[in-house]
Amino acid sequence: MEYVKLNNGIEMPILNFGVYQIPQKETKEAVLNALKVGYRGIDTAQSYFNEKEVGDAVKECGIPREEIFITTKIWIDNYGYDKCKKSVEESLSKLQTDYIDLVLLHQPFADYYGAYRALEELYEEGKIKAIGVSNFYADRLADICLFERKVIPAVNQIETNPINARFKDQEVAEKYGTHIMAWAPFGEGKNNMFTNPTLVEIGNKYNKSAAQVILRWLIQRGVIIACKSTHLERIKQNYEVFDFKLSDEDMETIKGLDTGDSLFFNHQDPNMVEWFDNMIKVRREQQDASKEKKTWE
Ligand SMILES: NC(=O)c1ccc[n+]([C@@H]2O[C@H](COP(=O)([O-])OP(=O)(O)OC[C@H]3O[C@@H](n4cnc5c(N)ncnc54)[C@H](OP(=O)(O)O)[C@@H]3O)[C@@H](O)[C@H]2O)c1
Repeated sequence: MEYVKLNNGIEMPILNFGVYQIPQKETKEAVLNALKVGYRGIDTAQSYFNEKEVGDAVKECGIPREEIFITTKIWIDNYGYDKCKKSVEESLSKLQTDYIDLVLLHQPFADYYGAYRALEELYEEGKIKAIGVSNFYADRLADICLFERKVIPAVNQIETNPINARFKDQEVAEKYGTHIMAWAPFGEGKNNMFTNPTLVEIGNKYNKSAAQVILRWLIQRGVIIACKSTHLERIKQNYEVFDFKLSDEDMETIKGLDTGDSLFFNHQDPNMVEWFDNMIKVRREQQDASKEKKTWE
């Protein structure tokens, strides 16, 4: 495993195992498999509803806690100073740990300033080893770096893959001392990413798959990665990316695949902001309904 040094000196694995969309009942096994294969970074979030299962795996794996790097993310509904602080306590409890290595603000909406101040305090208390943001476009990142200043985000986790390569976002982030971290490095397979002829052809030269070429391309750019699979052979395959090096020419060829457009959605689109707002309201209603049901039972 290779590590990157974050802006506060903390070392973070460059390749992390992501657990988005892994159902609770499959998460523990997937994380145990990843740790057995050699991954030392796990990327979860409050909104993935599997922090407890990640914690179970970390407890059971037999690897010392300090050798494992856990990232979680604060959901928008827990933004604001007080709610954010309380939610970190809940995450610590679910993850069954005294500290979290990296905590990110999941989305650039609502009272993220209040939430960020709470993270800064928890960072100063040592409950969090590094803090950062996610899905912040370059303007939002510049905003929090310039106006918040006390602790510059160590990481900005953003969609990054060959189709949406984020070179400009990386340049802006690095100007402020922030590392970018790729989510959906494979674009979740959209655009036939795993059979893309350019990636397959490059992979053939090194006896590697398109997936491995993508991960290697990100590593050589200095981009931290979260990648997900629930299949052991793919978990292994995605880890076998430290034994080859792409030529400068291949790096440039992959750069040519960049369209500059998201494979998912744009966080700056007002319709998407409405979509998130609506999703939060629906989830709140569901939670209230389930609380009400419990009091009647
Ligand atoms: N901050 C955010 O807003 C945000 C958003 C999305 C994701 N994330 C983080 O980033 C992580 C990765 O993103 P992601 O899970 O959305 O997408 P991804 O890693 O780009 O793609 C995952 C998909 O690719 C398949 N896959 C993985 N390795 C493969 C291989 N070698 N060959 C063929 N198929 C392969 C997986 O299938 P199988 O599982 O069936 O093998 C899964 O369907 C997440 O788990 C999460 O931790 C963060």
